[in-house]
Amino acid sequence: MASTPGWPAQPSVGPLVLRPPKLRDARAWSEIRLRNEHWLTPWEPSSPNRWDERNSVSAWPSLHSALKAAARRGTMLPFMITYGGRIVGQINVANVVHGALRSCTVGYWVDNAVAGRGVAPTSLALVIDHCFGAVGLHRVEVDIRPENKPSLRVVEKLGLRREGYYERFLDIDGQWRDHHAFAVTVEEMQGRSMVSRLAALPPEPTWRTAR
Ligand SMILES: CC(C)(COP(=O)(O)OP(=O)(O)OC[C@H]1O[C@@H](n2cnc3c(N)ncnc32)[C@H](O)[C@@H]1OP(=O)(O)O)[C@@H](O)C(=O)NCCC(=O)NCCS
Repeated sequence: MASTPGWPAQPSVGPLVLRPPKLRDARAWSEIRLRNEHWLTPWEPSSPNRWDERNSVSAWPSLHSALKAAARRGTMLPFMITYGGRIVGQINVANVVHGALRSCTVGYWVDNAVAGRGVAPTSLALVIDHCFGAVGLHRVEVDIRPENKPSLRVVEKLGLRREGYYERFLDIDGQWRDHHAFAVTVEEMQGRSMVSRLAALPPEPTWRTAR
């Protein structure tokens, strides 16, 4: 069987490590997801099933299998975001297309308990560098609801270019929601890494000092 370019992988900066999901993540994943229901639901795909059902410990094995299968097919690179060995979120490289397009879409969430500490921008920077490196892609896209101010800050910190506005683009939290589209292509990196671009931001006292 042909292998998926850039997978499996474990990109990291210091204690922040992105790694493939494991079957034994069930308990930790479910605990965070259940605790973060109100934090996450406005930004998550609509579902006919209750939050506690689809985020229970017993929901994980089928989700884990689906992520693993998509990674094997090369359409997705699903990462758990860990800090100091503890799961603090997920970042998924989805809609991976090779050929002439060589593009993908990235989605992410973090535990409210670590919000505001630069975990998502650092994770997104790692993923973009990985996509432009081992995966061999040319373009990375991030789509964000106009109401999602924290996520808009994430792409702003990384200097992603605003490409457009998609009306009724994704079925999120029970309705078709508009999204801003942001993207970056390899040329815009001018040979530098996204992680180094992020590190060049003006220092902030709490930024990137996760507990
Ligand atoms: C969007 C999200 C991933 C950002 O992650 P993060 O690691 O907190 O990112 P940052 O540390 O860069 O913080 C981004 C902004 O969040 C806001 N923020 C900071 N602390 C916060 C807190 N405790 N609660 C809410 N928002 C906070 C600030 O506006 C911050 O911008 P600033 O650094 O200029 O002050 C996170 O808020 C989240 O998981 N939200 C729910 C799911 C979601 O929206 N996913 C993205 C869908 S496109």
